[in-house]
Amino acid sequence: MPNRAALSVPLDYPVLVGRSLLGDLAELVATYAPNHRYAFIVDAAVERTHGAAARAGFAPERTRTLAVPSGEASKSRAEWMRLTDALLDWGAGRDTTVIAVGGGVIGDLAGFVAATLHRGVPVVQVPTTLLAMVDSSVGGKTGVDTVAGKNLVGAFHNPQLVVADVNTLRTLPELLRRDGLAEMIKHGLLADADHFTALCGLLPALAGGAGADVAELPALIGHSIGIKARVVHEDARESGRRQVLNAGHTVAHAIEHALTYRVAHGSAVAAGLVVEARLAEQLGVAEHGLADMVADAVRRAGLPDGPPASVSDATLLEATRSDKKARAGVVQYALPTRLGAMSVGPAGRWSTPVPDDAVLAALASARTLARRPILAN
Ligand SMILES: NC(=O)c1ccc[n+]([C@@H]2O[C@H](COP(=O)([O-])OP(=O)(O)OC[C@H]3O[C@@H](n4cnc5c(N)ncnc54)[C@H](O)[C@@H]3O)[C@@H](O)[C@H]2O)c1
Ligand SMILES: [Zn+2]
Repeated sequence: MPNRAALSVPLDYPVLVGRSLLGDLAELVATYAPNHRYAFIVDAAVERTHGAAARAGFAPERTRTLAVPSGEASKSRAEWMRLTDALLDWGAGRDTTVIAVGGGVIGDLAGFVAATLHRGVPVVQVPTTLLAMVDSSVGGKTGVDTVAGKNLVGAFHNPQLVVADVNTLRTLPELLRRDGLAEMIKHGLLADADHFTALCGLLPALAGGAGADVAELPALIGHSIGIKARVVHEDARESGRRQVLNAGHTVAHAIEHALTYRVAHGSAVAAGLVVEARLAEQLGVAEHGLADMVADAVRRAGLPDGPPASVSDATLLEATRSDKKARAGVVQYALPTRLGAMSVGPAGRWSTPVPDDAVLAALASARTLARRPILAN
């Protein structure tokens, strides 16, 4: 019996996580987000495996499907224009709800199409990657990439409904599943020691071949979504709390930048979490032993625990400056204090300016202690 109850999260829209939900999508949309027409914007690979199941029960004459080539390159203004023009050609008005079926690329792109079409039409998010389920489908950030960088053009546009069918993860390659596990480890670290421990207890099973079938996975996904939702909710009061979601990501973005994005996001995040936990310990912000716990967790998930040997510390340090979080030349870090808690930071903004020598020291010790650093040539 699939769990059909919406999660109890502080969001303005229902989030459903369970198994076999895709076959019930028409009914769920009719219940929670009814409209006259439905425009499916679907990842081309996902369309082949899950497209028909997602559309079953929708009236064909009121439904249009637009497939989008898989991959980050589709998160572009060109693709936004193609989709928007196709929807306008079809006569889509405010009576149209966009249904995004795919990973974070589709969620961000289709969300931005919905945000801008007629100055905003409803969107339903149907995430099919673990990362999209636990991260990108909630929080309302939509957008596209430009030559100047990722996510530089976009809008906040909350979905009307999120439906995460965990069974869709059965077709997701293990490497991509690990991207989501890295974010879930981050969620435990930043807000919930019990979530961290429960997750670790199910690793490496969750990272392995039958990981999508682990019975506890839907509950763990729901828990991770709850953590992100609470952080986003608290930030509505301008606390800057959303910064904590950046845990591990200052170094992760530097690694991605230095490797020109030829590295899985989850690998960069895993190494970033370990380096930043070591940094927090060395600064006296985090309690002793935290970084080893984080390193152990990422290794159990089959993720790397240190930066790539092919990139020097000086290059990584320089790359942290290209991150959006760099203000007035001093790079800000969202640092953990212990399992489940983050540092408020000196200005109460949930981020801490860190001098270069401290970052270099943390990178050096992370390299020395790493058992399986990122492999890159
Ligand atoms: N909006 C936000 O808050 C937010 C947060 C985090 C990340 N993001 C964005 O999300 C994107 C990354 O998301 P992603 O990792 O899901 O990438 P993605 O959407 O590119 O999906 C990864 C790959 O998985 C394939 N795929 C998707 N579902 C599948 C399934 N069930 N079975 C088999 N293959 C499947 C896709 O075809 C694609 O090749 C980035 O663009 C990032 O900027 C947004
Ligand atoms: Zn991330």
